[in-house]
Amino acid sequence: MAEPARTPLRVEGAGFVLRPWRIDDLDALLEHADDAEVVRGLSDRFPHPYSRADGEAFLSGRVVDLSTAWAIELEGRACGGIGLLLQQGERAHAARLGYWLGRRHWGRGHMSRIVGVFLDRAVPAYGLQRVEAFVLDHNRASARVLEKNGFRPEGTARAAIRKDGRFHDLHWFARLCGEAAAGR
Ligand SMILES: CC(C)(COP(=O)(O)OP(=O)(O)OC[C@H]1O[C@@H](n2cnc3c(N)ncnc32)[C@H](O)[C@@H]1OP(=O)(O)O)[C@@H](O)C(=O)NCCC(=O)NCCS
Repeated sequence: MAEPARTPLRVEGAGFVLRPWRIDDLDALLEHADDAEVVRGLSDRFPHPYSRADGEAFLSGRVVDLSTAWAIELEGRACGGIGLLLQQGERAHAARLGYWLGRRHWGRGHMSRIVGVFLDRAVPAYGLQRVEAFVLDHNRASARVLEKNGFRPEGTARAAIRKDGRFHDLHWFARLCGEAAAGR
């Protein structure tokens, strides 16, 4: 199994860069993260409204482990994020994938491409055998991003999430090491 990556990856793809978050990303982060449509697909750990204090807490590493969270840079400016939650112990071969993009950039195939290129680098770098992702029932765009990158549906946790005053099913997806990415 590969040694865990010690220094954060920097990944360059067609028209995008994935790189560590920086303190000076605060204004760009607020511009894109403070959006109810973005939060709709995400866990409550991503607050709404998204305040300056929320952005500062995130960029100082108090919300998630920033060693496995990357800013997505398009047109030279941070406008979204992608990250891995590395699992521990008997699950240490697995990681949970999460991502979001500022609404202005949706619908142009960016995230489908970004997830593919990111996993090509991150899976060997972290010695992963399994990458999993959970998608809220209404989030068809995110399910498509995963399907197009070779993730398979593994089931549905019914009424697993309470959000916006109603219960939502959570769809589980996973891709095992070596499973081909279809449709990229
Ligand atoms: C989900 C998200 C990352 C998608 O990013 P994106 O760059 O717009 O995605 P893409 O352009 O690569 O599109 C992916 C697919 O979803 C489809 N799609 C986009 N919006 C859709 C919608 N509202 N309903 C159904 N399908 C949709 C696209 O047509 C494309 O599929 P296709 O190639 O078969 O046509 C973006 O909408 C987002 O950041 N949402 C908020 C945060 C979030 O939900 N994160 C994921 C948590 S699991």
